[in-house]
Amino acid sequence: MLILAFESSCDETAAAVVRNGREVLSDAILSQADMHAVYGGVVPEIASRKHVEAIAALTDRALTEAGVSKKEIDAVAVTYGPGLIGALLVGVNFAKSVACALGRPLIPVHHLRGHIAANYIAFPELEPPFIALCISGGNSLLADVRGYTDMSVIGATRDDAAGECFDKIARVLGLPYPGGKPMQDLAEGGDCTKYPLPRAKIADSEFDMSFSGLKTAAVNLVHNAEQKGETLDRSSLAASVAAAISEELVPRSVKAVQRCGYRTLAAAGGVAANKRIRYDLEKACRENGIQLYLPPLSLCGDNGAMIGCQGYYEYLAGTRADMSLNAYANLEI
Ligand code: KG4
Repeated sequence: MLILAFESSCDETAAAVVRNGREVLSDAILSQADMHAVYGGVVPEIASRKHVEAIAALTDRALTEAGVSKKEIDAVAVTYGPGLIGALLVGVNFAKSVACALGRPLIPVHHLRGHIAANYIAFPELEPPFIALCISGGNSLLADVRGYTDMSVIGATRDDAAGECFDKIARVLGLPYPGGKPMQDLAEGGDCTKYPLPRAKIADSEFDMSFSGLKTAAVNLVHNAEQKGETLDRSSLAASVAAAISEELVPRSVKAVQRCGYRTLAAAGGVAANKRIRYDLEKACRENGIQLYLPPLSLCGDNGAMIGCQGYYEYLAGTRADMSLNAYANLEI
């Protein structure tokens, strides 16, 4: 079964062709990151316009690279939330028109379910149940993945996402957007114990997280140093931030796997590309006898293949949308 999939929830436009869920025939992606870097973050209006400009050409590219014609497509999948509403609407409306023109079923896909599904592409043996640690620019949560389309959140950030935390601290350090990778590069050789940053404890929830206190503490450190004319050890600050974020995520992930009685953890989302977090996850899982799945860097960020993969499992579960499908900025997993 061939699925043509679209992703446009933030600042990447993507179209992909996926066969039977796990075989990626093409994945055409156009990132707008350079465009938004000028402003230090994503400008929603610009994102929507750029998606409009790119999506048709990317669709042609995806079909050409896959070596399939439009008529061979069996279903159309699209991210319908969560994300930037204007950006999502571009993908949803384009997917609707393609599904309508081809007379094929339309499958709505949750963006984070897509990120989790990136693991199915990378690891053919992976099957639910497992715990998914979803860490991206807009979301940070732990999901109990009982089945391909049966999952629930068992812990989530109460405020900022881990990616937002990296991005905002990067901005005050004068690093380009998106700041996660530049922060990682800056942290090389830094002393992660030099700056004691706060670790959040949520009184009434074992698995919820918080990143805003950490973000504010790091931003204040930078501003205070600037005001006093002191020189910050930028490399050690970046390393201390990564260590603090990792400590927020990794022990909770291990505990979640143990609590649910599983043996498997899968990471997902752009922040799952982070070296320190990957290292800490590997160490913690090794020590606790947990099988860890870390998607390759190419599948951590937003892409269309992951939507095609999850779209396949949604299709098998009977998930369908009609022409009234809307986009949702916030959407339960
Ligand atoms: O999943 P993603 O591509 O888009 C969303 O759905 O949000 O994630 C983007 C986020 C950004 O905040 C970016 O700074 C972060 O992922 N990121 C990283 C790294 N690479 C990307 N954060 C930390 N370390 C990295 N190496």
